[in-house]
Amino acid sequence: MCGIFGCVLKNGDAAPIIHAALKRLEYRGYDSVGEATIHEGRLLTKKGQGKIDEVHETYNLDALPGQIGIGHTRWATHGAPSRVNAHPHTDCSGKIAVVHNGIIENFSELKKELEERGHTFQSKTDTEIIPHIIEEELERNNTLVEAVHSAVERLNGSYAIAVISVKEPGKIVCVRKESPLVIGIAEDEVYCASDIPAFLPLTNNAVIVENGELVVLSDKGYEIRKIVDKSSVTRKPEVIDWDPAMAEKQGYPHFMLKEIHEQPFCIRNTLRLQEQYLELMTTFLDRAGEVFLVACGTSYHACLAASYMFSKLAMLATHPIIASEFVEQHGRAVNIDSVVLAVSQSGETADTLDAVECARQRAATVLGLTNIIGSTLTRVARAYVCQQSHPEIGVAATKTFTSQLSVLSQLALRLAKKRGKVSHVEIEQLEEKLEQIPDIVEGLIETQEEKIKQLAKKYRDKQCFFFLGRGVSSASALEGRLKLLEIAYAPALAYPAGESKHGPIGLIEPGFPVIFVCPSDGTRKTILGNIMEMKARGASIIAVVEEGDEGIKSLADDYLEIPPGLPEILSPIPYVIPLQLFAYYMAIERGCDPDQPRNLAKSVTVK
Ligand code: M6R
Repeated sequence: MCGIFGCVLKNGDAAPIIHAALKRLEYRGYDSVGEATIHEGRLLTKKGQGKIDEVHETYNLDALPGQIGIGHTRWATHGAPSRVNAHPHTDCSGKIAVVHNGIIENFSELKKELEERGHTFQSKTDTEIIPHIIEEELERNNTLVEAVHSAVERLNGSYAIAVISVKEPGKIVCVRKESPLVIGIAEDEVYCASDIPAFLPLTNNAVIVENGELVVLSDKGYEIRKIVDKSSVTRKPEVIDWDPAMAEKQGYPHFMLKEIHEQPFCIRNTLRLQEQYLELMTTFLDRAGEVFLVACGTSYHACLAASYMFSKLAMLATHPIIASEFVEQHGRAVNIDSVVLAVSQSGETADTLDAVECARQRAATVLGLTNIIGSTLTRVARAYVCQQSHPEIGVAATKTFTSQLSVLSQLALRLAKKRGKVSHVEIEQLEEKLEQIPDIVEGLIETQEEKIKQLAKKYRDKQCFFFLGRGVSSASALEGRLKLLEIAYAPALAYPAGESKHGPIGLIEPGFPVIFVCPSDGTRKTILGNIMEMKARGASIIAVVEEGDEGIKSLADDYLEIPPGLPEILSPIPYVIPLQLFAYYMAIERGCDPDQPRNLAKSVTVK
C-alpha cells in the first residue's frame, strides 16, 4: 500500500529524515520510491523503481538540500511499477510536487480535459493529474491552500495527498479522504504521514486527520480546516504509547486481525474499479466457448463461489479448478475457444502460472484477477483486473478473499446484464446491495467479534471440526475450514452439506463441533435436514445464520448472526467474516502465531 511522508524542519535537511521515514513504511509493501524538496526557490526530486536501499544506492536519497520535503513509497494501482510512475509527480512547470495514497476514480476524464488544455503527462498514474490541476489553480492567483482545496473538490475516489510548491516554499498542504493521514508534532519539526510508525522515533505526539480535512504544515506548526466549509478545526495531539511493532499493526496485536478489520475499506476499493477493465473481462467471458476458473487455496475458494455467481446470474457454466490439477485434468482439452480466468492474490503462485502457461500454449485466452500489479500474472494475461486490496502481510488470506469475491460478483453481474439474463430491476437491487456490503461487514465485525472470542474459548480444545454449507455457501465452508487449520492447526473437514451423509457423518460422536454456514436462501430447507442429522448424533452445532432465523437458532448450540436481506450470491462475503475471526481467536486460544503459521509461505512459488 502506498506510504506518504512529509516534513517541515527549522534546521537541517529534510531528505535524510524522509529517507529514514520511508524505510519505516516499508512494511506496507511497495515497488518504487521517491522524494522532493524545495531549496532556494527550486523543486528538487529523486525517484526510482525498486527497494529503498537499491534506489538510495543509485541516487543517494540523502543528498537533496532543503528544509521541507515530501516522500513516497508506491504500491502500483494505475500503471506498472517503474521509475516514471514513481511519486512525487509534478506539474508542467516542475514547480509543484504531489505524493498520493489512494485511487482517483475520475482521473481519465480529468486527464483528457487537462490534455485538451495543453498539459503533458509523463506517467500512467492517476496521481499525476493532481499537480496539473493545482498548477491551473495557482495560475488563477490562488494561494497554495486555495489551489489544493479547489483541486480536491474535483477528485472522486480516495486520497491522502501531500503537496509542496515553490510558490509558497515554507508549506506542505495535505488532505485526507478515506486514505489514512496522521500528523506528528516534534519540538522544531512537523510531519505528515500515512502511518504513525513513519515518525514514531521522532515524536509520539500525533494528530489523526479526519476524512474531509485539509492540513497546512509550516514552521509555525499545523492548521486543520474542513474541506466542506473551510472552517478551522482545533485538535490537540494525542500521546501514542505504541512500540514500533504495534505501530505497524496500527495497534492490533496481529496483521491478520488488522486485515480482517480492513475488509470494509478494501471492498469499498473494489467497488471503485475502472469500468473499462471489468467490461473488457466481461466481453472475453461472454464470447468464451468454455470458462475455467483456476487458482489455489483461498483464491480457489473464491473461484468456487464465483462459479455459482456466473451460473445463477449470467447462466454461464464455468469450471472451477485447483490450479495444480489443471494440466492433468484439462490440459489437453483446453483450446482456442477456452477462457482461463486465473485468480491469484500474489500473481506469482507457481501452480497457477503453470496452468496459465499450459492454457497459453494451447491458444486459450488468459484473464487474470490479482492484487499485485506488475506480478507475472499481469504480464502474461491478455487482460487483468487488480482487486485493490492493498498488500496483505498475514499469511492467511482474509481481506484479499472478500475483495476477490467482490470483483467476481461484479463480473457476474455485468455478464448477466450483457446477456440480458436478469431483469433490470433485479440488477439494480443487486448493485444496491453490493454497495451496502462494506457497511454490513463493518457492522457485523462490531457486533459479533466479542461473541466469537468467547466461542473460541469454549471450543479451543476440540480435536476436529466439520464445516458444512450448501450451494455458494459450500465455498464459504471450505474457506472457514482452511483458515482454521492453517493458523490454529485444528484438523477440520469441509463438505457441501449434502455430501456429509455419504461418509463423513461416520466421524460424528457426541460433542463433535459442526459449523454450518446457513444463510436463508434456497438451500435453507435442505440444510435444516442436515443440521437435524448431525444433531441426532450428538454433534455440537454452531450456525452462522441470518438474524431472525429462529428455526435454525433453536437447533444450534451456538450461533453467529448476519444481517438479513442479503442476496444469495453476495452472501459469501459477509458469511466468511465470522469464520475468519473464529480461526483467528482459536489460534490465539491455542497459543499459535496467526501471522506466521508453520510450514507456510505467503506466496508459494514452487510447484
Ligand atoms: O497468491 P495466491 O492467491 O495465488 O495464493 C494462493 C494460496 O497459496 C493462498 O490462498 C493460501 O492458501 C493462503 N495461505 C490461504 O490463507
